[in-house]
Amino acid sequence: MGFKTIIEPFRIKMVEHIKMTTQKERLAFLKNAHYNPFLLQSDQVMIDFLTDSGTSAMSSEQWAGVMRGDESYAGAKSWQRMEAAIRDLTGLEYIFPTHQGRAAERILYTYLGGKGKTFISNTHFDTTRANIEYSGAEAIDIPIAEATNPEFIHPFKGNMDLKKLDALLKEIGSAKIGGVILTVTNNSGGGQPVSMENARGVSKLCKKHKVSFFLDCCRVAENAYFIKQREKGFENHTYKQIAQEMFALTDGAVMSAKKDALVNMGGFLALKDKKLAEACKSLLIISEGFTTYGGLSGRDMEAIAIGLDEVFDPNYLHYRIISTTYLGEKLHNLGVSLIMPIGGHAVYVDAQAFYPQIPVDQYPGQALVCELYKAGGIRSVEIGSVMFGKYDKKGKLIPAPKELVRLAIPRRVYTQSHIEYVIEVFEKLLQERASVKGYKIVEEPEFLRHFTAKFKPLT
Ligand code: F0G
Repeated sequence: MGFKTIIEPFRIKMVEHIKMTTQKERLAFLKNAHYNPFLLQSDQVMIDFLTDSGTSAMSSEQWAGVMRGDESYAGAKSWQRMEAAIRDLTGLEYIFPTHQGRAAERILYTYLGGKGKTFISNTHFDTTRANIEYSGAEAIDIPIAEATNPEFIHPFKGNMDLKKLDALLKEIGSAKIGGVILTVTNNSGGGQPVSMENARGVSKLCKKHKVSFFLDCCRVAENAYFIKQREKGFENHTYKQIAQEMFALTDGAVMSAKKDALVNMGGFLALKDKKLAEACKSLLIISEGFTTYGGLSGRDMEAIAIGLDEVFDPNYLHYRIISTTYLGEKLHNLGVSLIMPIGGHAVYVDAQAFYPQIPVDQYPGQALVCELYKAGGIRSVEIGSVMFGKYDKKGKLIPAPKELVRLAIPRRVYTQSHIEYVIEVFEKLLQERASVKGYKIVEEPEFLRHFTAKFKPLT
């Protein structure tokens, strides 16, 4: 007690080598990757903050579970364990395994979506929005007003604007609403938590207007940590009880298990309504697999069941959130503009503030992502106008609301010294920031362009 260093609550039993590279090598790698770090090979990267998704280190218990995996096509014991863990957590009746979060999204939103339908969220994650829009439906984000100011301190900046929700539901009418989706934590909005009070408010409005309320719950344990620390009345709850209370407010949930289930692959869809579940079951069998494995192998399902338990360990969650905060606060103290307060799984740098000289249509976020890689071999992701920008009829960029770069921290993977190194790389970038220039897109697909777009540096 009383020590200031929060040690990693695990020891390392197996190591994975990081290939050290020089700046000269990295310049060539980046050019080859068309200045899009998604196109880099992983061994060209030293610290991989591209995502916290599917990048967790599994525990010895989970690896033991992998060996126990029951690979039967139907009725596998591993499925029974996964289903029991999800039912215990969510309280929801109908549970379907999927190979990852977006598969659950595709099934649910294809069925509920289509032309003329609207979905409303605190902020749709990019795959959520893409699945909704691909079905022909519309996706509207209504985060609270405080969320638009990066430096503004608010304990639950992931909250949904309840006044706007009420007005939209009234205006659009329940027949045209596909669903209301609360994303916890709010990934695209900065990894910010959602309060129980807000979730209760959303639930109440959805009941009043007779529309369905879904939880995108991939970081629900991290969200529960913030509720216990920051929201009155939850001081004596366990993290799991908090999550359970949130699920009880909903009509269903989609989860990418690649986050808070501490696994490398997996997801699920959980529903309350039998009729909706029947429809989704058909889509699941057509596209993912039979109801007792979805797109997963038995060993994956075993690891998910164990991960869903481990993630609620108070020591783990404390280390997890405190270590993300550590990185964020150090960067903030250096003068880097960030989304504040620091969220759960990632630190979000305000790239426009970092490079004020780069206009938005020259993608300041992409510039920062490239500089981080060149200087330190650090891979991060742009969450700005590359990811969310659109074009008007004349082909002019409609920028995203913010130009961010996300440093997403894989779970249980990096140690404190890796983090200290990242802080040093930022110190270097700060010194060199005035001379950095933007990028232009030379090739892009229609949907989710950030994954495969090609760029050219501007001179
Ligand atoms: N919802 C949220 C809030 C997510 O963050 C993600 C994935 C998904 C759904 C889709 O899940 O990848 O398993 O299909 N987020 C990753 C990320 C990719 O890097 O933030 P998936």
